[in-house]
Amino acid sequence: MKEEKLETPYFLLHEEKLERNILELKAALKVYWNNYEIGYSCKTNSTPWIMKYMKKYDIKMEVVSDNEYLLAEKVGYKNKEIIFNGPNKGKKIFKRALLNGGYINIDSLNEVEWLEEIDSNLLEEVEIGIRVNFDLEKDCPNETAYLKDGSRFGFSYENGDVLKVIERVNKLNNIKIKGLHIHNTTKTRSIRAYESICKCACKIAINLNYTLKYIDIGGGFFGGVPGKTTFNEYLERISTVLKTTFEISKTKLIIEPGSALIGSPIDFVCEVIDVKDTFAKRIVTVNGSRNLIDPFFMKNSYFYNLVIKDDRKIKKEQIICGYTCLDNDRLMRLENNQELKRGDIIIFEKVGSYTITLSPLFIEYFPTIYVKKKDNEIICVREKWSIEEFLQKQIF
Ligand SMILES: Cc1ncc(COP(=O)(O)O)c(C=O)c1O
Repeated sequence: MKEEKLETPYFLLHEEKLERNILELKAALKVYWNNYEIGYSCKTNSTPWIMKYMKKYDIKMEVVSDNEYLLAEKVGYKNKEIIFNGPNKGKKIFKRALLNGGYINIDSLNEVEWLEEIDSNLLEEVEIGIRVNFDLEKDCPNETAYLKDGSRFGFSYENGDVLKVIERVNKLNNIKIKGLHIHNTTKTRSIRAYESICKCACKIAINLNYTLKYIDIGGGFFGGVPGKTTFNEYLERISTVLKTTFEISKTKLIIEPGSALIGSPIDFVCEVIDVKDTFAKRIVTVNGSRNLIDPFFMKNSYFYNLVIKDDRKIKKEQIICGYTCLDNDRLMRLENNQELKRGDIIIFEKVGSYTITLSPLFIEYFPTIYVKKKDNEIICVREKWSIEEFLQKQIF
C-alpha cells in the first residue's frame, strides 16, 4: 500500500517511533531499576494490533475492567501477564486472575470481601497489591486534577485505611498484600509528582515487617515528545527516592505507561472537503472531527503538518472544522498560513492516546487504522467501520 494512495480519514501508527519509545523506556529502567515490569495501559489505546505488539517486547497488559481483561486474554496474554487494576473488576474474573497468578491491585472494599470468601479455597499463598490514595496535591500544589478534593481511587493513606486494609487482608491464611499501586495522573506529568509517589511508598513500607515484592507507580509520564521530561530523568529521581527504603534486587518496580508509549507514534490524517467564507471567518471543513483526536474537547493546540502541493497565498485566518454538525467541532485556528483548498491534507501528529478508545460512533463510524512498518510497508490493522459493524447486535 502506498501512503499517498490511502483514502482519508485514517490513523497512521509509525512502528519505528513506537519501538523507539519502548526501547528508550526499557533502557532507562535497566539503568535505574533493573528489576522491573512494564504494564501497558490498555485503555489508552486498546487497538488489538498494538496490544499484541507490546507483548513482543515482554510488556504486560494493565487492564481496568472485565472486558479489557478478556480482550487481553484474546490477544494472547496469560493471566500472569495481566495487571488487573481499577474499581470495575467483576468477581469471576477477579477470582480467575487470583487463582492463576495474575497481578491484582485491590481498589475497594468489595474486593476485600471477595478475598475473604476466596481465601479458604486457595491451596497456596497468593500475593496481591493494594491501590493507595494519598494527598499528592499537598506536595505538588496545582498539579493534580482535583486539587483539594484529591483522587478518588484506592485506600487512603492519610486516614489510615490503607494500613488497616493491609492488616485485614494479611490476617487471611493464604493471601498477603505484597505490592503497592500508587498511580496518579497529574496535569504537569512532573518529576516532582513521582518523587512524592515514591516517598509515599517508602512511608507505607516502613510500617510493614516484611519486604514488599513490588511498587507500581502507574503511568502518567511524558514520552516521545521533544523538550519534555525523558524516561531517564524520571527514573533517575524515582530510583533515588525508592533506594532510601527498597533494594532493587528485592522489590520490583512496575510502571504502567499509556500516553508515553502510544501518544507520539500515531498521526491522524484527514482532508479538506470544503472551504467557504461567512460574514466573520474563513471556514475550512475536513473529513475528520475533534471527536477523533480530542474527544475531551480540551486541547488548544496540536502538532500538525499541512500537505499542500502547489504555491498558495497566505491567509490571515482560517478555522479548521470537523465533519459533524456540532458547531463546536472546531479543531484549530490557522493564522498567517497558506490558504487551504479542497483536497489538501492535514496531518495531526501525536494523537495516539485517549483518542481511538474514546471516539464515539457519532454521525460517522470508526476510521481505518494503518501501521507504517519499519521497512515502510503499510498494513491495515483496523478496517473502517461501515453500517454493517454499526448494526451488530441492533434489534429493529
Ligand atoms: C491505573 C492507571 N495506570 C496507567 C494509566 C496510564 O496513564 P498515561 O496514559 O497517562 O500514561 C492510567 C491512566 O489514567 C491509570 O489510571
